[in-house]
Parts: sequence; structure tokens; C-alpha cells
Amino acid sequence: MPRHIAFIMDGNGRWAQRRGLPREQGHRFGVKAFRNVLEHCDKLGLEATTFYAFSTENWKRPKREVNAIMKLMDAYLSECEQKIDEYAFRIVFLGDKGVFDEKRRARMERLEARTSNRSRIVNIALNYGGRDEIVNACNRLLADGKETITAEDFKAVLYTASSPEVDMIVRTGGDLRISNFLLWQAAYAELYFTDVLWPDFGPDEVDRAIVEFSKRKRRFGGV
Ligand code: FPP
Repeated sequence: MPRHIAFIMDGNGRWAQRRGLPREQGHRFGVKAFRNVLEHCDKLGLEATTFYAFSTENWKRPKREVNAIMKLMDAYLSECEQKIDEYAFRIVFLGDKGVFDEKRRARMERLEARTSNRSRIVNIALNYGGRDEIVNACNRLLADGKETITAEDFKAVLYTASSPEVDMIVRTGGDLRISNFLLWQAAYAELYFTDVLWPDFGPDEVDRAIVEFSKRKRRFGGV
């Protein structure tokens, strides 16, 4: 069993367009899929899940689409705040929060702080880029006055410092690339690609990916 699965939630736009709907509707159904997948992973006992919700490059999208995604995120933050005691997870936002206005940033930080004693982790990558994460980690180490560092030092300043190693990266939507996601963490992650579009991805698809994971021989460079 994997302990930590990370999801690249791709295909929302195409899912909507195939139904004659605006792309924003694809993201709305994408949030439903996110909830189903998170709940299922929790039932399976995964210690951590990571979801790529918005990349450092996604700001290039039309304003209307960016606003729609942020609105969905704000609605989710509100819900988490309201149901904080029922919400089972430690919530961690991966990415540079500096771009968000004070109100959104404070909400994100509050949610992180108020859930920080929980063991099951959900990482939401928002304004996240793998290269940005590595540069940010280097700057943090420089600011600490480090002159030489170990891999352990480096891991400790990545956005994912609180999570176990990423065992598998799942990408929906048919493309075969990593798209600046978890570049350091992907070193020994199993990669799983499916043509299923994210809004159609659910518990059965998660199970299929885990069966595939269980067949992989992980050697971590050994024999
Ligand atoms: C990729 O599909 C999807 C995104 C860039 C956004 C994903 C965001 C969500 C599912 C909402 C997140 C909110 C919460 C609460 C987690 P795409 O638009 O690139 O699809 P396409 O490749 O078909 O165009």
C-alpha cells in the first residue's frame, strides 16, 4: 500500500467542453471528484494525499477561469473553517502564499495552524511550482546561514516537509508529463497515467492505480 499519493487533476476543461459547458463548470465538478478521492484515500488509510489545484503557471489562464478556481477554493476554505472540528485532516498548502491577498493568506495559515496536530495530511498545492519550491528551499537555507547542506536539511525546508515520501504520482487527462509538480519528491515515486478526465476520476480509479502500484517492483536504485 502506498502511504502518500499525489494527484495531478487534469482534464476538467475538456470534460466541460465535451458537454458544451464552460470550462469553469469542469472545475466545479473537479472539486466534487477531489472530495470523493480524498474521502476514499482516507478510508483506505493513506497517511497523506496531495492535490495539484493551481500551479505557478496557471495564472496565464483567462481571468474568468482563474477567478472561478479561486472562488471554488475560497468556498472550500470557508467550509473547512466552519466544520473545523469534523474535518479529519491536517491541511497544508504547498506553494508561495505571498501572491494572495492578506485575507486569503490569513485564512490559509489559520487552517494550517488549527489542524496541525492531526495525523492524516491533505496537501493542497496552490500557486505551487516544483522549481519555485526548490528555489524557495535554497533561499531558506541561505537565510539560515547554511554553507553546506545535506539532503535531509533540504527536505526539511520543502513545502512537503510534514509529509511522508510521495509513493505514487497519478496524472489524469492523458498527458504524459510532470508539469513542474513535486520535482524533488518525484525522485522514486511511481508514475501512473490515465486517460480518464479528472471529474470522472473516483474511488474505482484510485483502486485501479493502487493495484498497479502493488505490481511495481520498487528498487530505489538497488537490485
Ligand atoms: C487542470 O485541468 C485543472 C486545474 C488547473 C485546476 C484544478 C482545480 C480544481 C479541481 C479546483 C480545486 C479546488 C479545490 C477545493 C481542491 P485543465 O483545466 O487543465 O483541463 P484541460 O487539460 O482539459 O484543459
